[in-house]
Amino acid sequence: MNGQSNFPVTDLLKGQVGLITGAGTAYGIGRECVKKFAAAGAKAIYACDLNINAIPSLQEECKKAGYTSIIEGRKLDVSSEDQTVEIVKEITKKHGRFDFYIANAGFANYRNLNDTELVHYDRQVNVMTRGAFIGIKYGSQAMAVTSEEKPQPGGAFVITGSCAGYLGSYSDLPYAVAKTALHGMISGASVHLSSSNIRVNGVAPGFTKSGILSNSQKAEQGEYKNTEDADQLQKNHMWFFERAGLLKAPEYYYNRLQDPEEVADVQLFLTSKLSTCINGQMILCDSGKTSAATGEACTGPVPPVKPLDLS
Ligand SMILES: NC(=O)c1ccc[n+]([C@@H]2O[C@H](COP(=O)([O-])OP(=O)(O)OC[C@H]3O[C@@H](n4cnc5c(N)ncnc54)[C@H](O)[C@@H]3O)[C@@H](O)[C@H]2O)c1
Repeated sequence: MNGQSNFPVTDLLKGQVGLITGAGTAYGIGRECVKKFAAAGAKAIYACDLNINAIPSLQEECKKAGYTSIIEGRKLDVSSEDQTVEIVKEITKKHGRFDFYIANAGFANYRNLNDTELVHYDRQVNVMTRGAFIGIKYGSQAMAVTSEEKPQPGGAFVITGSCAGYLGSYSDLPYAVAKTALHGMISGASVHLSSSNIRVNGVAPGFTKSGILSNSQKAEQGEYKNTEDADQLQKNHMWFFERAGLLKAPEYYYNRLQDPEEVADVQLFLTSKLSTCINGQMILCDSGKTSAATGEACTGPVPPVKPLDLS
C-alpha cells in the first residue's frame, strides 16, 4: 500500500477480488459500486444481498460496458456469521486472494419511538452494525491470506454509514444508533488492523436516490424478491425527497438529490490506491446537507456569489 498515484482509472483495482454487500437491488449504491469497481479493473466482484433478483441485469450491464470482471451474485444475510464465513472462504479459495470488503447492506424504516419495538432495534443493529463487525472480523482474515497471486497480505474495507450518524433528525432511533456505532468501529478497526496492511474507512451518504424505500420493509423481514425495475424504484423514492423539503429550494447545493454512483465514486476512491493516506475515517457524502441543517434560520437567504469584476 505504498503511495503511488500515477496510473489509469481502469487499473485502480487491477486484479483485485472482493465482495460488496447490499448490491442486489436494481437501483442503489451497492449496484453502482459493483459497476465502478468493474470499470476500475477488479478481477472478481461478488455482489451479495438478501435479494439477488437484479444480478443478471447487473452482469449484463457490465458486459455491455465492456468490463471483463467476473461478477457473481450470492445470497447473503450479512447478520449471519456462518453465511459470511462461507462466502469469504469460497472467494478466497477460488481466487487465491481477497482484497476488498464493502459493507454496504442496510435498510431504513421510519418509526416513531412509540412504534419502535426491540425486534426493530435488534434487526437494525444486527444488520448494519453487527454485520459490519462480522465482515471486518472474517474479511480481514481473508485479506491476510497470501498466494502466488497475492504475495503480500493486505486490503481495504469501506463501510456504509449515514448522515444519520451525524444528526438526529435524519432517521428513526435504531438506525441512528446502528450507523453512529460505525464511526467507532471504523476508527478502532483501522488500529486493530494496522499491522496487517489493511485500511478501514467509511462513506456516510446523505439523501441519495436508491431503492431503499421500496426494499426496506422486505429487507427487515429477511430474504425477499423485488421485481421492480430501476425506474420504478426511483419513482417510489421521490415522495421522500419531497417530504424532506429538498425540492422546495433546489438552487441550494445541499438540496441536491444525489445519484448512487456519486457515493460509489467515493467507495472506489477509498478502496483504491488513490487513498493510501486515508485510514480510520468516515467521509460524509451529503452535498453539505448536514452543514446546512438549520437552513436559512440563522444566515437568512444566501445569495449566489457575485462574479469577479474582470474590468
Ligand atoms: N439512499 C440513501 O439516501 C441513504 C442515505 C444514508 C445511508 N444509506 C445507506 O446506504 C446503504 C445502501 O443503501 P441504498 O440507499 O443503496 O438502498 P438499497 O435498498 O437500494 O440497497 C440496500 C440493499 O441492502 C440489502 N440488505 C438489507 N438487509 C440486508 C441483509 N441483512 N443482508 C444482505 N443485504 C441486505 C437490501 O436488500 C438492499 O438491496 C445502506 O447501508 C443505507 O443505510 C443510504
